[in-house]
Amino acid sequence: MKKIASVCGCAMVAVVAFSAVAMADSHVPSSVKARQAVMELNNYYLSILGKMASGKTKYDAELAIASAKSLKLIEAEGIDQSTMWAPGTSTAELGDATRAKPEIWTTWPAIMEPIKGIKVSINAMVDAAGTLEGLQSTIGDVGKSCAACHKYRASR
Ligand code: HEC
Repeated sequence: MKKIASVCGCAMVAVVAFSAVAMADSHVPSSVKARQAVMELNNYYLSILGKMASGKTKYDAELAIASAKSLKLIEAEGIDQSTMWAPGTSTAELGDATRAKPEIWTTWPAIMEPIKGIKVSINAMVDAAGTLEGLQSTIGDVGKSCAACHKYRASR
């Protein structure tokens, strides 16, 4: 690889690197892609709310409530995630394709504690998001709940 790079230059390296990523991606189980997509959605809505809470964007009650409710649908009300967390899909088996630590499965059902926590904090935010003060006073706990579960997420 190094030898090819020095002979052919950067464009070639980029092509090789890209096809390596594409190949790795085709081996990622759909369950893993689905749970990562769920997490991207979590992140999407929480950042809309976070920007409003911090004053980076203008507070909009309707959007705040809709975003909080979307998080509730995802995490607290329950799309069924059970098949997304299939055994055999941790970093131990899949390496870099996932950040899910083996502890999710080896310490099961310990992960249910942060899951309970996030349900409570999201429900409180849905109830309060109709005012800026309400959003500001409840969003911190949601962020903490995400972080509590991210002890099961490997750092990169
Ligand atoms: C049930 C525990 C749990 C909860 C609750 C949780 N996460 Fe995660 N999160 C994880 C794990 C585990 C991963 C790694 C998933 C993987 O790579 O397969 C992850 C990955 C992510 C990622 C990276 C996604 C990617 O594309 O690789 C983001 C962003 C994220 N979480 C945001 C959030 C936010 C925001 C919340 C709160 C609203 C949240 N998460 C709640 C466990 C959780």
